[in-house]
Amino acid sequence: MNSPLTDPLPAAFYPASTPADLNRADFGADFRWGAAAAAYQTEGAWKTHGKGRSIWDDFTDRNGRISRNEDGRIACDFYHRYETDLDLAKAMGMSAFRFSASWARVLPNGTGTANRHGIDFYDRLVDACLERGLEPWLTVYHWDLPSALQARGGWTNRRVVSWLSEYAQVLAHHLGDRVQHWLVLNEPMVFVGAGHMLGLHAPGRRSLGAFLAAAHHAALAQAEGGRTLRALLPASARIGTTFSCSQLTPRNPGNARDEAATRRTDALLNRFFVEPALGLGYPLAELPVVAWLLQRYHKSGDDQLLKFDFDFWGIQNYTREVVRSAPWLPPHWAALVPAKQRGVPTSDMGWEVYPESIYHMLKQYAAYPNAPQLVITESGAAFPDELRRGRVPDAARRAYLQAAIGQVRRAQLEGVNVGGYFAWALTDNFEWAQGYAPRFGLIHVDYETQQRTIKDSGLWYREFLGGTAPVAGRVESLLKRGGE
Ligand code: FCB
Repeated sequence: MNSPLTDPLPAAFYPASTPADLNRADFGADFRWGAAAAAYQTEGAWKTHGKGRSIWDDFTDRNGRISRNEDGRIACDFYHRYETDLDLAKAMGMSAFRFSASWARVLPNGTGTANRHGIDFYDRLVDACLERGLEPWLTVYHWDLPSALQARGGWTNRRVVSWLSEYAQVLAHHLGDRVQHWLVLNEPMVFVGAGHMLGLHAPGRRSLGAFLAAAHHAALAQAEGGRTLRALLPASARIGTTFSCSQLTPRNPGNARDEAATRRTDALLNRFFVEPALGLGYPLAELPVVAWLLQRYHKSGDDQLLKFDFDFWGIQNYTREVVRSAPWLPPHWAALVPAKQRGVPTSDMGWEVYPESIYHMLKQYAAYPNAPQLVITESGAAFPDELRRGRVPDAARRAYLQAAIGQVRRAQLEGVNVGGYFAWALTDNFEWAQGYAPRFGLIHVDYETQQRTIKDSGLWYREFLGGTAPVAGRVESLLKRGGE
């Protein structure tokens, strides 16, 4: 069903290694097909019905932190429009929908008294998924820490481990009878690194010490969150967590310094959170400075506490990176060579268009002894879109989606146990520091009118998934508009 594209695109969009024919059925009847979203990026309703503030409400208020000073106050208004978005997901033939809960909507002060209205919202959302035959996949934490907890040090305070666990308990208590798939953290290396070392994401810190404290506490919370959920949920529940990852290539293959820098970067970007969960400890042989600094936060007995046998790992991949040695750049003395300098095709995020990365990362994670099932919980690409008379002809995103799915199949054909694919994202949304400009959705959102239009990539996904479900009249018209 690999329909040819009309618009000429660079060869990177069509890796020769992609299997020629893609059929949903080949992936297996149990393979989950869906798309993903996250609370702050889509919900809006930033202070509706008793929601507390989060670090993203605060960070977006700080002038100059976000492109065009945009924020997520309204976003896609998913809080009020979730039924339409779920109708569209269903009509596209998806079997699952991944979303996150907003901690400050559920617990406005981070701990203590729960907000009945917040819980009601997730109750309704879960029911709405189930009514449509969409399996809800719930991310406990997708980056929006309550401000009340940030005031107490946030991720740099070790007590965050018990705060997260309390929050997970509230979710499990209210939703555990219906939600079977749980993801503890979304991409810890990104919220810890971009938030505490690079200052690009909330809470906007730039400190190696804060980074390492937050990293250790996130790794502990990842495992403790897993234990908390397993203790409370029915035995049939499946508990996972997600990892960001990129295939890494040395700038000059064969150059010993670039090769070593690539190994150190791999330890930091791809291995840092998965290995402690497996009981292997942090990959510190490659990161001696981190080893030395981490001692401050690492207590005796922590090695045990870092372990948790997840039922699946969520693998999230967008690109590959090229690495060079950078002896002045702590903590791993390496730098990423920007794709623009390499003259390769890039997406709107400035990331290299390189769908084969997903195959290599599946192989890398599957190679761990005792690796659980892998699920692609995010994969996608931002390209400039144009809404032309009710159509979004996004050939580049469509080609990327096809190629990425093909690379997942390639890994599966080589024996990797991969159980699902979630496109990032169901709809366009607020892309953190970049605001609304990068569009990742399979569904276009007009932020003035909140009108949804399925893009050509979404129509391709629908065709691939065999989306033939009967849909409500208003969704029928949205689909038609997209298809004309
Ligand atoms: C991932 C995030 C997700 C989205 C994509 C583009 O790192 O998990 O929220 O922003 O990148």
